Amino acid sequence: MNANLKRLHPYPFERLAQLKKGLVPPGDRQHIALSIGEPGHATPHFIQEALLSHLHGLSRYPNTLGLHELRQAIAAWLARRFALPAKNIDPESQILPVNGTREALFSFAQCVLDSGEKPVVIMPNPFYQIYEGAALLAGAEPYYVNTLEENGYLPDFDAVPEAIWRRCRLVYLCSPGNPTGAVLDQTGHQRLLELAERYQFLIAADECYSEIYADEDNPPPGLLQSAHAMGNSAFRRCIVFHSLSKRSNAPGLRSGFVAGDAQVLRRYFQYRTYHGCAMPLPTQHASSAAWQDETHVRQNRQQYREKFTAVLDILDTVCSVSRPPASFYLWLKTPIADSEFARRLFAQENITVLPGSFLSRTSNGIDPGRHHVRIALVAPLQECREAANRIRNFINSLQD
Ligand SMILES: Cc1ncc(COP(=O)(O)O)c(C=O)c1O
Repeated sequence: MNANLKRLHPYPFERLAQLKKGLVPPGDRQHIALSIGEPGHATPHFIQEALLSHLHGLSRYPNTLGLHELRQAIAAWLARRFALPAKNIDPESQILPVNGTREALFSFAQCVLDSGEKPVVIMPNPFYQIYEGAALLAGAEPYYVNTLEENGYLPDFDAVPEAIWRRCRLVYLCSPGNPTGAVLDQTGHQRLLELAERYQFLIAADECYSEIYADEDNPPPGLLQSAHAMGNSAFRRCIVFHSLSKRSNAPGLRSGFVAGDAQVLRRYFQYRTYHGCAMPLPTQHASSAAWQDETHVRQNRQQYREKFTAVLDILDTVCSVSRPPASFYLWLKTPIADSEFARRLFAQENITVLPGSFLSRTSNGIDPGRHHVRIALVAPLQECREAANRIRNFINSLQD
């Protein structure tokens, strides 16, 4: 067995199931799940249609590079969304389809890290646990950079010691962030890009929440956009990860892409031909249709805005919580220990939320997930409102 398997931590949802074990929630209240980041909105009909009308593609093996038509649709989307000149994105060498970003975020580390070097992988804290698992199984040492309220919930890269930068070969960036919804601006991206040049590491920018944002006129910047703005038009050292799961409410489609530095992607392509994870042809056609439409994405954002407004109106009176610039998460401070909060909320109100400390590690003496819970506003508006009312009652009951 691979000895590194022992280094893996239990997945947050395993810990959550353990936390809830044996509890009997009140039977008169319907269960509301706000723990998993699975969008509850329907997958648009035209995406389903595109999938169905290409089912005959199941008779063929897809290839790793994917259809030109899909990569072309993705290149056009990247150019539109991030104001990049179309000539700067080559669908042949700078884009690869992936079966959701999860597998890609994981396999990318296996491809680019050399365990013999004893590399360090830097990641935000709290984080999407795949980053950590990917680093551990690649034989690397994770280094957790806290994202605290005093830094706008953004990673404080200035606090990373020089000795760590020297060993760093990969940085996972998550902007917009899960679980805080914080957005790194162009200056932040460019500062990290300068560090990447100085210390020779790659940046894996997980941008899977980039299309779920609050201000319609102010979309989150992407890493490729920031690189281009500083003259790095070949996107040296940058690989971005995008997904249809949240943008297009299609987590079951398992569709996303990676894009950026052609030299790195050439090696990642080689890795993927062995890994054997080509995207099925019907999925590629459905994905191509999805990347070409923005109407459903705007409607999607509008639904989340309505939910944030409704929920914050109710919770404002009992706790300090604010609307994040992006994502569909509320990162709520809890008056008692976060796991106790989640346990009792389930037992009293039949609502499931995720304890913040299940998403974080102690770093520099601080566990940034402590005393927080992550609330995913994925249920329908009426259920989110109902959940907020029950959470308010629950918080009030703690003060009695
Ligand atoms: C931060 C982050 N990255 C990546 C993913 C993976 O998304 P998918 O594999 O569906 O593209 C998720 C899913 O919840 C996520 O929260």
